[in-house]
Amino acid sequence: MAKVLVTGAAGFIGSHTTDLLLREGHAVLGLDNFRTGHRRNLAGALASPAFELLEADVAEPGVVARAAGRFRPDAIIHLAALVSVQESIQDPVLNRRLNFTATELVAEAARRHAVGRIVFASSAAIYGDTTDLPITEETAKQPISPYGEAKLQSEGVLLAAGAGLTARCHRYFNVFGPRQDPASPYSGVISIFERRYREGQGVTIYGDGRQTRDFISVHDVARANVIAATKPGIASGAANICTGRATSLLDVVAEFARHYPQVPPPRHAAARAGDIIHSLGRPDRARTELGFAAQVSVADGLAELIRAG
Ligand code: UD1
Repeated sequence: MAKVLVTGAAGFIGSHTTDLLLREGHAVLGLDNFRTGHRRNLAGALASPAFELLEADVAEPGVVARAAGRFRPDAIIHLAALVSVQESIQDPVLNRRLNFTATELVAEAARRHAVGRIVFASSAAIYGDTTDLPITEETAKQPISPYGEAKLQSEGVLLAAGAGLTARCHRYFNVFGPRQDPASPYSGVISIFERRYREGQGVTIYGDGRQTRDFISVHDVARANVIAATKPGIASGAANICTGRATSLLDVVAEFARHYPQVPPPRHAAARAGDIIHSLGRPDRARTELGFAAQVSVADGLAELIRAG
């Protein structure tokens, strides 16, 4: 049994990670200020005696350090973040605070209280809009948003922290699954489409729909997080967390249409400014360094999402 401090525990990825840690018999202190997380995401966790919730802001100096001093975790999974690329452009100061300063505070808390591991939510956004596919960890890092830039700099802080700390930086690709917020037009496309189909409305495809993404289920992402936090003998490093499979929007829509044959077909609108056509990661390093490989197909993940509705 490990003791794990999860920041952003009430968020999309944080709550699934927390649930999996608890299922595997670990003790979790979840930290969240509910800026974008939701208490309902923790309904299962809150029923567990092995879970404790701390409602606090990870970017507030002293908060993580005090939590680590009291809870004495073996690992910190740092997922609290400003999650919207769009919002990072509109409010770069808040982005800096949540996506960079908070990481420095987490690293400092780990150092002060001898926490041996940090798992960090990085992003494929650090690679920018490269056309050099599939993206490997060696691909040039040229972020094109304050969000991607802060994630890249956070990786630097963690990976430079020194021998006492094992830092694992997870470069998530397009994560989808239950509890992802569909509220904004810039939310993940699958969560937007799921809500529209469930409500019986057609979806809008920006462009011709042949654009592809490496969609990875949040259950696989949670498993990668738990492995990185708890598996013995893991060294510091950064790795793509992806499937290595490209799925087009037309494929996604065809899958939804199988489940909702009565919903009108999609309409097409002009491609979004700045939209990238293809994104695909190479998953090999996570397999070598963590023993992690994604298992959930897009078809199975969508079916689960639709059931969870
Ligand atoms: C991700 C980010 C986005 C960022 C971009 C570049 C998320 C959820 N999105 O976008 O903020 O600017 O990386 O780093 O993290 N689409 C539709 N119809 C919709 C919604 C989306 O056709 O209703 C299309 C988009 O135009 C895009 C594809 O679906 O071509 C995927 O969109 P999205 O889920 O936002 O992911 P990214 O484009 O990878």
